[in-house]
Amino acid sequence: MQQAYKQIVQVAGLRKTFGHRVVLSDVNFAFSAGEIVGLVGPNGAGKTTIMKGLLGLMPTDAGNVRILGQPVSVTTHTVVTQQVGALIERPAIYPFLSGWQHLQLMTNSSAQMTWVVAALQMADYIHRPAKRYSLGMKQKLGIAMALVAHPQLVILDEPMNGLDPQSVKRLRELIVQLAQGGTTFLISSHILSELAKIIDAVILIDQGQVLLQRTMAQLQESARQSLVIRTADNPQALRALLSAGYPVTQRADDLILTAAVPLTPLLQVILGAHIQILQVTQRREDLETVLLRLLAEGKG
Ligand SMILES: Nc1ncnc2c1ncn2[C@@H]1O[C@H](COP(=O)(O)OP(=O)(O)OP(=O)(O)O)[C@@H](O)[C@H]1O
Ligand SMILES: [Mg+2]
Repeated sequence: MQQAYKQIVQVAGLRKTFGHRVVLSDVNFAFSAGEIVGLVGPNGAGKTTIMKGLLGLMPTDAGNVRILGQPVSVTTHTVVTQQVGALIERPAIYPFLSGWQHLQLMTNSSAQMTWVVAALQMADYIHRPAKRYSLGMKQKLGIAMALVAHPQLVILDEPMNGLDPQSVKRLRELIVQLAQGGTTFLISSHILSELAKIIDAVILIDQGQVLLQRTMAQLQESARQSLVIRTADNPQALRALLSAGYPVTQRADDLILTAAVPLTPLLQVILGAHIQILQVTQRREDLETVLLRLLAEGKG
């Protein structure tokens, strides 16, 4: 049952307007069971609106959403209530109920409740009324509520919000562990460095449209490489390299070359000018740099 549908989520032609404002126009994407997918894009791009559409939490103007092959809309969401866990923006918390009572709303299994409390290290306060929780405690309770029923698909909107570094690390490890067991995740976050550590694929949203959907392997391929060279005499090395035709620039203590060139002849130019080479490193754009560049190119 777990992997019966290859595409656990299918979104086709999703459109959403608020009055005359088109907030989502023709959004299309799909992904497979067991994947961890990042949903990223600037503020107001439409990430939360897409997640609400996936959950059948708001009426849409056009398009289809299918989860595990079953249609989802504001009037049809059996699959969502049975197979999906979600935290959208902020957790909905009843101030006078304890964390434990909130978990009881999601499942009858006390074993699963005990598991999630331990996994997110909430034991110290789980029986206290939620109105006494800090921002991070409430956030963890929201995540716990999304995970506790062991749903096949988990949708988390900015889950790292308000979490301390140790909790972020634990959450990351928990997500990866659950994904290895077959759980699928769709996660939005502005902390791209955190997201990059766990996601298999990324969907980049801009102005209500999907700008691109790529696997991390594909993004790695489009990451630009650069060569960073440090010598005992950078100004002279720069002159020597420029006159040999290498498009080198100087930044602080480094010489930077973004074009892909064979290394040996380049180093021979520097050595030939009797300049000592101190360090040579290959650098690759990280996820943040690649996505910001692709976003700028998409806009351009
Ligand atoms: N209830 C609403 N009424 C009118 N406009 C709305 C409403 N909800 C969202 N919008 C608009 O829809 C657009 C997308 O909002 P959404 O919350 O989906 O963005 P987001 O990508 O989640 O942004 P953020 O990164 O800030 O969370 C924004 O321009 C927002 O102003
Ligand atoms: Mg949002």
